[in-house]
Amino acid sequence: MGSGKILFALLTLFSQFMAAFSNSQQNENPSVDFHGGEKRNGSSLLSEGVQLRIEKDYVVLDNGILQVTLSNPGGHVTGIQYNGLENLLEADNGESDRGYWDVVWSGEGVTRKKGRLDRLEGTNLTVVVETEEKVEISFTRMWNSSLQAKVVPLNFDKRYVMLRGSSGFYTYAIYEHLEGWPAFDLDNTRIVFKLAKQKFRYMAIADNRQRYMPLPEDRSPERGKTLAYPEAVLLVNPIEPEFKGEVDDKYLYSCESQDIGVHGWISADPRIGFWQITPSNEFRTGGPLKQFLTSHVGPTTLTVMHSTHYAGANITMKIGP
Ligand SMILES: *[C@@H]1O[C@H](CO)[C@@H](O)[C@H](O)[C@H]1NC(C)=O
Ligand SMILES: *[C@@H]1O[C@H](CO)[C@@H](O)[C@H](O)[C@H]1NC(C)=O
Ligand SMILES: *[C@@H]1O[C@H](CO)[C@@H](O)[C@H](O)[C@H]1NC(C)=O
Ligand SMILES: *[C@@H]1O[C@H](CO)[C@@H](O)[C@H](O)[C@H]1NC(C)=O
Repeated sequence: MGSGKILFALLTLFSQFMAAFSNSQQNENPSVDFHGGEKRNGSSLLSEGVQLRIEKDYVVLDNGILQVTLSNPGGHVTGIQYNGLENLLEADNGESDRGYWDVVWSGEGVTRKKGRLDRLEGTNLTVVVETEEKVEISFTRMWNSSLQAKVVPLNFDKRYVMLRGSSGFYTYAIYEHLEGWPAFDLDNTRIVFKLAKQKFRYMAIADNRQRYMPLPEDRSPERGKTLAYPEAVLLVNPIEPEFKGEVDDKYLYSCESQDIGVHGWISADPRIGFWQITPSNEFRTGGPLKQFLTSHVGPTTLTVMHSTHYAGANITMKIGP
């Protein structure tokens, strides 16, 4: 990439993933086996078409089962309504800190050693498909030299898709880097959802890796003690005493790419789950054995598509001019 002959370089096309919500059917422990899904007796819901409402500062996708609100034109997910819950995302967080895409990049003008974070704030909304079966919307930002060293030198197009009768939605993004644009390293790119912490307490990343989790406050200096690196915190005085003496570290919940199919969180009341479903690992860099973060205390659930974790700078995407 970056050869003078390439007029137009389509940098990356990420595959889709799905965040889905299901009525969990367990009694005592909300353990999961990942075979359940949305089993609504949905003839009435299925007959409801997908609706798109565009407001001044928000866009709402609604199929009668699920209602997803996004900022307009930023394209961040600010609210997800389901099963009587006003918002599955943490409403105490700012609107650009609930459900979002971001990248970490380094290049000319970036002094931060670990690269600069760019939360991919869209500037323009476009409706791609609007039928009763499917609505697809796009949030773009076009790069030009006035943005040099300020934001990642990419055009991006973040897509959100909702289908009729489905208790979830899809998101994917297209990144584009044109000839002659500044060279840079793409260190990390991901999708993040921060869930309502009063509700989502039980985390499942595999059949045999699931448990109740500490609260985010337990990691604060008042309740925890940071160990050799900031991610690892000894829980000295957690809100739930059962976690006392444990070390919380999000890297404990990393998975090999080949095993990241479904992961997420369960709420006991109401009994619902929030799941990220990744249908394929082909779009992730580093091959099937490369590890990535999944879900962790927050409650946070991530899709990491590309990152330097566990390998360092050698697997960074180096984009030429
Ligand atoms: C589900 O739908 C079928 C067909 O409409 C109906 O016979 C059945 O009673 C429904 N079940 C429930 C639990 O609502
Ligand atoms: C913004 O979106 C509108 C509506 O889809 C489209 O007509 C227009 O060309 C877009 N503008 C830019 C700068 O992309
Ligand atoms: C460059 O991008 C900025 C920020 O989006 C925009 O305000 C400006 O109009 C653009 N300039 C050109 C020449 O397109
Ligand atoms: C890996 O990266 C380091 C630091 O950037 C570099 O010195 C080393 O040569 C690289 N190794 C390979 C095999 O490319």
